[in-house]
Parts: sequence; structure tokens; C-alpha cells
Amino acid sequence: MTSIAVCPGSFDPVTLGHLDIITRGASVFDKVIVAVLHNRNKQPMFTVEERVSLLYEATKDLKNVEVDSFNGLLIDYVKEKKANTIIRGLRAVSDFEYEMQAASINKKLGPDIETFFMMTNNHYSYLSSSIVKEVAKYNADVSDIVPDVVAEALKTKFK
Ligand code: PNS
Repeated sequence: MTSIAVCPGSFDPVTLGHLDIITRGASVFDKVIVAVLHNRNKQPMFTVEERVSLLYEATKDLKNVEVDSFNGLLIDYVKEKKANTIIRGLRAVSDFEYEMQAASINKKLGPDIETFFMMTNNHYSYLSSSIVKEVAKYNADVSDIVPDVVAEALKTKFK
């Protein structure tokens, strides 16, 4: 059986913390589909197309990783892709409450699908896309916390 995992998120934009989880996930599963949510509630900095394109560049050396986007319920997308696992990264304790609720509802909606948690590398425990955007706005150097292609895209955004 081929193990296919979906790694969902907003990825606005992808950080090295995300990339760490995607890379480690790719060493565990046969295929990892990184799926960007079309999130209508949030006001993203990057469009879905931009986020997909940045992820595509950042993961292009990982041969078993695909990048896609989805609308609606995650569990429906996971079933449509014939995947059996959802990958999520856990940073600090603060992530736990939300992740437990999400894993619980996803288990109810898709009993055959597992959520697979990985602890984020300590190096990136307090890293988030929001923090990256906040500091990049003031021209701080973010080159050691985001992929190069994202650092460039942020520079262009805030020029
Ligand atoms: O990067 P994020 O914003 O933490 O990712 C959250 C995401 C996209 C995984 C979550 O919001 C999601 O799955 N949304 C799709 C709607 C859905 O299925 N909701 C029920 C599970 S929370």
C-alpha cells in the first residue's frame, strides 16, 4: 500500500519551521501533498497562487512532495486524494488545544484517516508565519527563518 499524507496549512508564507516538518514527513511517507487552504476568513498577505508557488520553489528538491491547494473541509480533500494521513507540526504547548480539537473532529469525519503529529525542531519552536510578516514589515532580516525565495518575496512586498 502506498502511504500518502496531506500536510495542510495556510502557509502565508511558508517558513523553515514548515519546511522542517514537510522534509521529515517526506522521509516517513511515500508521498506528501502540501495543501494550501483557500481561507476566506483570514486576510492573507500572499494569494493562494503565490503561496503555492513559494512552496513549490521551497520543496522542489523533495521528489516525493507535491504542492496543491484546497477549498472546504480538509477531510474531504484528504479522501479525494486517497491519502490516509494528515501531518501536523506541534511547536509549543499553545498549539496543543487547537490541534487536539482539529484531530478529534477529523477523526469523527474520517475514521480511517490518522493525524500524525511531529514536534517542530527546537530551533523553530517559536516561529510562525505571523511573526515573520510582522518583522519583515520593518525590514528585519528573515533569511535564517524562511526559505530564500520567501525572503525575496517579502522584500518585494514591503518595498
Ligand atoms: O496553517 P494553519 O492555519 O494552522 O492551518 C489550519 C488548517 C488549514 C489545517 C485548518 O484550518 C483546516 O483544516 N481548515 C479546513 C477546514 C476544516 O476542515 N476544518 C475542520 C478541521 S479544523
